[in-house]
Amino acid sequence: MSTAQNRAAPEHVAIIMDGNGRWANARGLPRALGHRKGVEAVRETVRAAREAGIGFLTLFAFSSENWRRPEAEVNELFGLLKTFIRRDLADLNRGNVRIRIIGDRVRLRDDIRELLLEAEDATVANTGLTLVIAFNYGARDEIARAAAHLAAEVQAGRLKADEIDAQKLNDSLDTAGIPDPDLIIRTSGEERLSNFLLWQAAYAELMFVPEFWPDFTPEIFYAALDRYAARDRRFGGIAPSALAIGS
Ligand code: IPE
Ligand code: IPE
Ligand code: MG
Repeated sequence: MSTAQNRAAPEHVAIIMDGNGRWANARGLPRALGHRKGVEAVRETVRAAREAGIGFLTLFAFSSENWRRPEAEVNELFGLLKTFIRRDLADLNRGNVRIRIIGDRVRLRDDIRELLLEAEDATVANTGLTLVIAFNYGARDEIARAAAHLAAEVQAGRLKADEIDAQKLNDSLDTAGIPDPDLIIRTSGEERLSNFLLWQAAYAELMFVPEFWPDFTPEIFYAALDRYAARDRRFGGIAPSALAIGS
């Protein structure tokens, strides 16, 4: 069986936590209960990531398109984020976990924005796992905000238009300073990115698992890490094994 220790871990794993609603539906429960159960899977997954020695774990918690859901469900998801941070911040701190938030904060309520800042500030000196929470996050929105930032720099005379390159755009994204994800896992059997990390996913390995998010366990996580370790990443080049044969 897979354990946390027996493989080379990817530096950055990102997860699209999908299927809370269907998990609840299948049990005749309200969708809100699926979301609540999903928080337990978050705790387990953070623990598993720490044990596996992963550097960065990004969790997609609320997308910029999730505002299309009924107001009650949106409120439930915001409430769960608040409770998670209030209840788990001390524990995460003890575990040397650093918290970073990506997504557009400007449109968030003041109390949520302050709580997110507090979580980042309280954990800024931690050197273990970085837990990146994507909240009110959409990749197109993120890229557009980065473009607007660079345009403002040009307008202010601090940057020339022809100095803008992929590195500068990269450094203007919410994920500045965070390495690109090596592995993106999506639960619930859906096979799409749903506007998640579109820029950063350029060379990510994609993995789709059938389980709904509330059923995601460390065992499923470690099995995904095993499958990742068996993949051949070439980044447009040639596999070292093929090079040896050709030379
Ligand atoms: C994932 O579960 C949680 C969020 C998107 C916030 P869903 O709520 O999307 O569950 P399904 O996909 O409807 O089953
Ligand atoms: C993606 O899931 C967003 C999160 C997991 C937060 P969705 O359930 O919103 O994606 P679609 O609508 O099925 O593409
Ligand atoms: Mg969904």
